[in-house]
Amino acid sequence: KDFSGRTAFVTGGANGVGLGIVRNLLNEGVKVAIADIRQDAIDEALATLDNREVMGVQLDVSDRASFKEAADRVEAEFGPVSLVFNNAGINLFQTIEDSSYDDWDWVLGVNLDGVINGVMTFAPRMKERALSGEVHGGQIVNTASMAAFIAGPIPGIYNTAKFAVRGLSYSLRYSMAEYGIGVSMVCPGLVKSHIYASDEIRPDALKGEMQPVNENAVQQLAGVHEFGMEPDVIGERILEGIRNNQMHIFPHPEHKDEVRELGEEVLEDFRDYPQDPGYEQRIGFENMR
Ligand code: NAI
Repeated sequence: KDFSGRTAFVTGGANGVGLGIVRNLLNEGVKVAIADIRQDAIDEALATLDNREVMGVQLDVSDRASFKEAADRVEAEFGPVSLVFNNAGINLFQTIEDSSYDDWDWVLGVNLDGVINGVMTFAPRMKERALSGEVHGGQIVNTASMAAFIAGPIPGIYNTAKFAVRGLSYSLRYSMAEYGIGVSMVCPGLVKSHIYASDEIRPDALKGEMQPVNENAVQQLAGVHEFGMEPDVIGERILEGIRNNQMHIFPHPEHKDEVRELGEEVLEDFRDYPQDPGYEQRIGFENMR
């Protein structure tokens, strides 16, 4: 697939995974909008990229109205968006029982509502343009995580959001297929990124019930993230996944066995009950799932 001439919208594009995607898209001749909440990071990225085919737009993805405005601005300047990367994300490293409602609102607001807002803004536009013949094809790419499959005690809210992004992505993939629009979900393991510094951008309104930031833990996380995969490598693998219209894009092959084990654990929980008598009659309905 040739992406050149298309326009892409990359949330969280000023750092980490998003910036890796942006670089790879620019190399392919795609016009790219970096949509990020950090204006300083946008400015820095634009200066480093030094390319006329990239623009910045400040956006909090959890804000529905701003999302629409940002999309309108980008389309007015760069034309119809047909590659959407719902990638912005934050993390909070604490168990569910130690979390507050503010924690839930913040993490779900960015990691889940952010994806929902991207889909609700762009999917209807892409569908309409496919039906009218104005733009053919395109892809919606949601950054989930290995945490969309593998849960642990610490990233409780993060797991919740990423599992939900997985459900959304599967369903949307079925419904958009008939318009020739692909949907993919990216599931990285550890990436060299800024995510350990998420606290810096937590809105004041959601800080009320916040536990004091554990600077020690943040430093440790920063150290671990140094050993993460390079964003440019991830970006390259993401583009390859889109070219093949893959549902899942797993940049880190080292997690394959965990997914296999999980699948086996799930199957083991099925019991050998006799088939339910009504099953034959409801087959058609079950296929609508
Ligand atoms: P990052 O912190 O380096 O980049 C994320 C970008 O999103 C930042 O530039 C940040 O300013 C922006 N952002 C945060 N909240 C935003 C908001 N409300 N609106 C708009 N932009 C916002 O982090 P990273 O790691 O590149 O994260 C990108 C995605 O990758 C996230 O969805 C994350 O959950 C996912 N991921 C990251 C992994 C890692 O090891 N770093 C592993 C698996 C998935």
